[in-house]
Amino acid sequence: MNKKIAIFISGNGSNMDNIIRYFQLHHPKVNFVVFSNKKECKGISKAKNLNIETILISKTELIEGKVGDKLIDLKVDLIVLAGFLLKIPESFVRLFINKIINIHPSLLPKYGGKGMYGRYVHEAVIAKKEPESGITIHYVNEHYDEGGIISQHTVKLEKNETVESLQEKIHQLEMKYFPITIENLLQNEH
Ligand code: GAR
Repeated sequence: MNKKIAIFISGNGSNMDNIIRYFQLHHPKVNFVVFSNKKECKGISKAKNLNIETILISKTELIEGKVGDKLIDLKVDLIVLAGFLLKIPESFVRLFINKIINIHPSLLPKYGGKGMYGRYVHEAVIAKKEPESGITIHYVNEHYDEGGIISQHTVKLEKNETVESLQEKIHQLEMKYFPITIENLLQNEH
């Protein structure tokens, strides 16, 4: 597989790290470039350790189209949001229809939208005493967490579930399913 993937991050980058390692092992011809809006985030160091090009971007550059132009120059096949917390503007979505995907740590449409990220999602799920939660991998449109769903995977919640224990279960699902979902998407592309 000879493809180029852009991964967008804002923080820890554990999904980014896991995806790149998976492809380096199974599809070494796939190239990556990592975009971050946070200069000092852990994900940037992880990408550098894997010898991946990193590009720092600002919200203004995203809104004004500079980031879109760069992605067109780079001829990327897929844009993966992996813990990227800036809103994706409509102009950007229109440039890359069905080419931007995101991972969200709940079973959308539940617990999505502005402000719902990371541990805030798990806190809300536990507060509502939900019997299950999970992950959603979906296409990105101009509204937070509302694009078409590609796949979902669930976990059961225990009575004594904590934010930390749920976060760990969700993390395991993300590690298992995000790389293979990306692989399937690229393999089914024409
Ligand atoms: C992941 O759990 C991802 O699902 C979540 O942020 C975390 C990023 O972790 N994304 C959202 O909440 C998006 N609304 P990572 O930086 O270690 O990959």
